[in-house]
Amino acid sequence: MINLNFLVTLFATFALWGSSKLASAQHIGIIPQPQSVTLEKDSLVFKGSLNIAGAENVSVTTLQYLRTNLLNRFQFYTRHHNTESSVIVFKQINRGKDKTNDEYYELTVDQKGITVYAASEKGYFNAVSSLLQLFHFYHSKAGIKVPYMTIKDSPAYAWRGFMLDESRHFFGKEKVKQLLDWMAYYKLNKFHWHLTDEPAWRMEIKQYPFLTLVGGVGNYLNPLAPAKYYTQAEIAEIVAYAGARQIEVIPEIDMPGHATAANRAYPQFSGGGTKDHPDFTFHPGKEGTYTYLANILKEVHILFPSHMIHLGGDEVAFGSKAWDQDEDVQRLKQKFGYSTNKEVEAYFMRRMADSLYHLGAKLLVWDEMAEVGLPKDKTIQYWWRHDKVSQLELCLKNGYATVLCPRLPFYFDFVQDESHRFGRKWNKDFNGLERVYNYDPEIYKAKELYEGQILGMQANLWTERIHNEQRFDFMVFPRIAALAEVAWTKKDRKDYENFKTVLKKHIQLYQSDGIYYYDPFKNTNSEPKVQVSKQQYIDNPE
Ligand code: ACM
Repeated sequence: MINLNFLVTLFATFALWGSSKLASAQHIGIIPQPQSVTLEKDSLVFKGSLNIAGAENVSVTTLQYLRTNLLNRFQFYTRHHNTESSVIVFKQINRGKDKTNDEYYELTVDQKGITVYAASEKGYFNAVSSLLQLFHFYHSKAGIKVPYMTIKDSPAYAWRGFMLDESRHFFGKEKVKQLLDWMAYYKLNKFHWHLTDEPAWRMEIKQYPFLTLVGGVGNYLNPLAPAKYYTQAEIAEIVAYAGARQIEVIPEIDMPGHATAANRAYPQFSGGGTKDHPDFTFHPGKEGTYTYLANILKEVHILFPSHMIHLGGDEVAFGSKAWDQDEDVQRLKQKFGYSTNKEVEAYFMRRMADSLYHLGAKLLVWDEMAEVGLPKDKTIQYWWRHDKVSQLELCLKNGYATVLCPRLPFYFDFVQDESHRFGRKWNKDFNGLERVYNYDPEIYKAKELYEGQILGMQANLWTERIHNEQRFDFMVFPRIAALAEVAWTKKDRKDYENFKTVLKKHIQLYQSDGIYYYDPFKNTNSEPKVQVSKQQYIDNPE
């Protein structure tokens, strides 16, 4: 039976906390570390049930997120009353239209209770994430005892992303939702979903059903694995789930390369490939290809209200040699006076970009597309080739907003410890926790000219070597926490030793969530193996 006695047991304690004000550098259990924390000596103690008030400006979804988390994590019941004894009060503040403060929040804990101040839904949600982490940190069997404090917080970067490749291996909506939960917990706000590539196509397109019926078959290790894909209803469910956590979802339909699975379904639009990458490209010389892909994008755009679609544009040269033998491509080259396949690639992307802009969406691309003449106000570049800093400079010089996801340190399919054998390495280099944590994007902002063009950071989980949930967890946790702090916390607030101390508490949460995390402290979980012994899985630099 639910205990209907919702009387709030709220009282201040006067336990001494040492000096009257504690150093603001002291951690309070929140990852990413907030920009400003002032701690007082007294503390607020409560247990059992909570009253939430003044929440008329907060969405029902954010409140539900808070209430269900309080219930599930702490067995705290909440009610909704504007009474004297409110423990959590939401108050709207006016921060004008300043974009940089779009996510700002304040959180105070004092003798009156907890007060959340924000100007936007995003701000409220960030405050709720911080609050849940505070509760976890200051929770004991006796209840919750939180020091009086004031937090003032907003992100260093607006773009805090995570990319999951489900073409190589399909994980399904429950795993994706769990990832979204953790992203929300760490204030990551962009989910880039890589749904098409060589092994399989994973998104239902009603006009072209073979894309999933045929293209959905197989995965990286087994080309005959039964078809796995997301129906449009499931995609809508995941997009809504993400939206309730203030996360935007950005699908990637990779083109003109990495198109193998689509070409299996509709071979009439294949532009061919090479021995190692057969049918790798869409056909750039046939008008039908552009109509086909534009039709696909119309459906995709309706499914993803972020109004952002990633069209890849990477590694086309893996297959574009086939274009040299194609009459239609030769005709195209002649018509426009092109002499190289690179120019054909650029033409292809400009045309697809036009289709996207026509729908009202923004185009996102990998850094190969930094110099193909895409309009800078409607395009976002992703710099991934860490060994080509010149490509990042080109993105910035050409005026593009740019997301930083260099392989070192942001490809999470790279191993995170010297002893690990089943992920990628770059020669002998890999992406340990500290390396992820200490990444300093400011080195690229040397020129004032580029101020504001670096939107933020993203980690990419490619899944050639990640075939099950154990390996997924092992590669994502705890690096996802380090990623969050790189993208959110200003440099002068970061401290790796502090981070590790807080992380130990977060690892308890990974355990209670059944996550097979990598333990940088104790090595409790051993490295899960990939179930094949192909040499290419081991120490393969590319
Ligand atoms: C990539 O890793 N091909 C973007």
